[in-house]
Amino acid sequence: MSNKLTIIQPDDWHVHFREGEMLKAIANIPSKFNKRCIAMPNTNIPITNSEQVLKYRGQIYENVLNDNFEVLIPCYLNENINLKDFKHALINNFFIGGKLYPIDVTNNSSFGISKIENIFPLLEILEEEKKILLIHGEKTADEVKIFDREKYFIDQDLKIITNKFKNLKIVLEHVSSAYGVDCVKSNKNMAGTITPHHMLLTKKDLFNNDLLDPFHFCMPVVKDEKDLVALRDAACKDNNNFFVGTDSAPHHINDKKPNFSTKPGIFSSFCSIELYAKIFEEEKSINSLEKFLSINGPNFYNLPLNKNLINLEKIEWTVPEFLEYNSIKVKNFYGNKKINWKVTGLKV
Ligand code: DOR
Ligand code: ZN
Repeated sequence: MSNKLTIIQPDDWHVHFREGEMLKAIANIPSKFNKRCIAMPNTNIPITNSEQVLKYRGQIYENVLNDNFEVLIPCYLNENINLKDFKHALINNFFIGGKLYPIDVTNNSSFGISKIENIFPLLEILEEEKKILLIHGEKTADEVKIFDREKYFIDQDLKIITNKFKNLKIVLEHVSSAYGVDCVKSNKNMAGTITPHHMLLTKKDLFNNDLLDPFHFCMPVVKDEKDLVALRDAACKDNNNFFVGTDSAPHHINDKKPNFSTKPGIFSSFCSIELYAKIFEEEKSINSLEKFLSINGPNFYNLPLNKNLINLEKIEWTVPEFLEYNSIKVKNFYGNKKINWKVTGLKV
C-alpha cells in the first residue's frame, strides 16, 4: 500500500466554532485544511435571523487566517422565527438550511423544539426552497434511557417529518447507532454524517473506574460495539449518503466534570482528517476516504466539489494533549495518542 495519498480538499459539515475567546482559540483549526465548514448555530444566544447570522459569519471570518475558507451556517429553528426573514435569509444563502434541535437534548438546546408540528411552516419553506434540514436526532422522555434517545426520535418525530415533507432533504447528524444507519439507508432524501469518535469509542470508553470520562462524553452518547461496526460500514463501504461531520465541540477543561451533568462535546478538529484516514485504513477502505471526506457531502448539499487537493502521508505523530490559548484550555480528542497518518499539505 502506498504511503502517500492525495485527495480533493475535504469539508467538515458539522463544527462548533463558538464565540469570544473560544472562537479565537479554535477558529484556525477546522479552517486549516477544510475548505468549508458548517458552523453550528447553538451559540449562547442561538442564531435565528438574518442579522445574527451575518454578524456571526463576520466574527468567524475575522478570526480565520485562511482566506480561501468558507463558513456555512444553518438557522437554529425555533417557533418564534419570522417566516419572511427566514425565507429571505435562505434565498440569499445567509443560511445553508435549518437546524432542528429537539428541546433539551444537548448544549444550548433549551430554545429547541418541543412539538414538531410547531415548526411545520419553517419546514415547508425549507422544502420549497430546496434547502437542507439538519437534525440533531435525539428526543428525551423520562422513560427513555440516554442510549435510546436516537431511536426514540426516529420513531416519534422523524417519521412525522418524512411522512409530511416527502421532498425535504434531511441530514441526520452524528448518526450514533445501527438503527440510525438503517434509517438513513431507507430514506432516499436522507444522508447521515458520522463523527470519528462514534467510530472509535463505545460505552466502555465512557467510564473510567465507574466515573464518567467527560472527554468521551458527547451527545448523542457513544453506544455498543454493534453500533460502532454499523457506523464504520456505512462510512467506509462506498455509500453515497454518508459523509464527514466531526461535531468537533470544544469546552474548557473546567466545564468537564466526571458526571452526566457535565457539558457534552468532544474536540476532535486537531486530528479529525487523520483519524478518518486511520479508520478507513483499518477497514481496508482507504480508497473510499475521498468520497466520504470530499465528495458525498457537496453532492448532497448541491455544492461544487473543491478544486484544491490535500496530501496525507504515512507518518506517525502524537496528538498534543491540550489546546491552550490565553485563558482557554481544551483537551484534544486522541490527545497523547499516536496516529499513523498526517496531513502534510494543501495543493492549491
Ligand atoms: O456533544 C455535543 N456537543 N453534542 C451536541 O450536539 C452539541 C455539542 C456542543 O455544542 O458542545
Ligand atoms: Zn454538534
